[in-house]
Amino acid sequence: MRINQDTLLEGEKVVLVPYNADHVPRYHQWMASPELQKLTASEPLSLEQEYDMQKSWREDDDKCTFIVLDKQRWEDPSVSEEDCMVGDVNIFLTDPADPTLAELEVMIAEPSSRGKGLGKEVTHMMMCYGIQNLGIRNYEVKIGLDNEVSIAMFKKFGFHELSVSEVFQETTLGLIVDEKVQREFLENLPFMQEREYGKAKDSRQAAEL
Ligand SMILES: CC(C)(COP(=O)(O)OP(=O)(O)OC[C@H]1O[C@@H](n2cnc3c(N)ncnc32)[C@H](O)[C@@H]1OP(=O)(O)O)[C@@H](O)C(=O)NCCC(=O)NCCS
Repeated sequence: MRINQDTLLEGEKVVLVPYNADHVPRYHQWMASPELQKLTASEPLSLEQEYDMQKSWREDDDKCTFIVLDKQRWEDPSVSEEDCMVGDVNIFLTDPADPTLAELEVMIAEPSSRGKGLGKEVTHMMMCYGIQNLGIRNYEVKIGLDNEVSIAMFKKFGFHELSVSEVFQETTLGLIVDEKVQREFLENLPFMQEREYGKAKDSRQAAEL
């Protein structure tokens, strides 16, 4: 999706930036991990396939992707953006007949960054972005049955079980964003500021000189 190609979302602990080609080598390194392949139900790709995937995620109208940066590291301009990367978050519009329905995926890939509230903040920010900017009113998430951390996190956001697939060993959780849920999500988000990614990147580079 091109809607977020120059969008930076700043939260309290994380900064979300559009997924671009500079991020692919680190992303590819993450996805070589069998643990992450299992947790995210992903197949390993070659580096070339990963670049193609990044391009399609950027261009296809049914996918919106951000890379998650650790804000504490990002605030130090001497740390490269690649070294601030800790994960990614995606919205997929899964039903062409219903643009208000989206599948959500979140990954805090760096094990040392997990369990510190980043995943929760990323999920909250992306859901608010989807509600406000993409008109999403119905979220679904598919999670491996043994991924207790992720299941617990989404249930805390109010998701409930829609179905279980024994074949894929995964559960599908869902949340309808009615007016009450929408109000709660937007009101309870502690801080989120939307900025132009290109300008923020330039001022970070200028600060380093
Ligand atoms: C699932 C994931 C996104 C959670 O992000 P995180 O930054 O580690 O989690 P947070 O610190 O924000 O905690 C969010 C919630 O997860 C649960 N959680 C986190 N760590 C946990 C642990 N060690 N044990 C049990 N539950 C845990 C809690 O419910 C927590 O909420 P709380 O802090 O209010 O108790 C992250 O662990 C991850 O990306 N894992 C690998 C990939 C994956 O599983 N993706 C999900 C597929 S949809």
